[in-house]
Amino acid sequence: MPPLDLGVLISGRGSNLQAILDAIAAGRLDARVRLVLSNRADVEGLARAERAGVPTRVIAHRDFTDRDSFDAAVVAALREAGATWVVLAGFMRLLTTTFLDAFPHRVVNIHPSLLPSFPGVDAQQQALDHGVRVTGCTVHLVDAGTDTGPILAQAAVPVLDGDDRDALAARILVQEHGLLIRALSWIAEGRLQIAPPDVPGGRARATLAGVETALGLAQSGPARGDVGGVGEVGEGA
Ligand code: GRF
Repeated sequence: MPPLDLGVLISGRGSNLQAILDAIAAGRLDARVRLVLSNRADVEGLARAERAGVPTRVIAHRDFTDRDSFDAAVVAALREAGATWVVLAGFMRLLTTTFLDAFPHRVVNIHPSLLPSFPGVDAQQQALDHGVRVTGCTVHLVDAGTDTGPILAQAAVPVLDGDDRDALAARILVQEHGLLIRALSWIAEGRLQIAPPDVPGGRARATLAGVETALGLAQSGPARGDVGGVGEVGEGA
């Protein structure tokens, strides 16, 4: 398999981009970042790309009157740079079919929840507000909906007592970096299989053949769920 030719789209901090750059440099991901494209200037992710010697572009969505023309400009930039796969790494824009038809089943997103729970913005706060005990992150292929595309891999993260949004987000982010690199490596190994929807208008399914794509509860903490802890709760009740 040739290396993946990646275009990475960002809007801000770029820590997932950094995970990709580090994994490539360490030989853990067989890929080349052909372009890092941001819809915002002066973001940390662009500096990370520049430090790694990767080409960058800024295409500001505000310069376009509609989403289709913005997407067409982004597609043109990605093609010109030689990208054949696209990673959304904190890219805060929805994609139109203009974009998705240009890279069919080749746009990958990382999202900080166990989809289909908590799509859209601030998934970590949504999880806290809902009171879930387990959340996590999802790598999925992008379709025209908001975080609705075929799921590739997920990692579970516990919500701990006293978590606020930032503490939970930080714990999920560690798992995001690992999961994204694993999923991209599996794609680079040629493991991705797409099954068409069972029924017209139904949902396509994505499979990464021969690998474990469900990662268990990370950092659940030693005191939780062990025999002593459960006994203490029982005695006090
Ligand atoms: C991550 O939490 C990612 O899951 C979400 O946006 C955030 C981007 O973080 N889509 P970074 O820019 O990669 O640091």
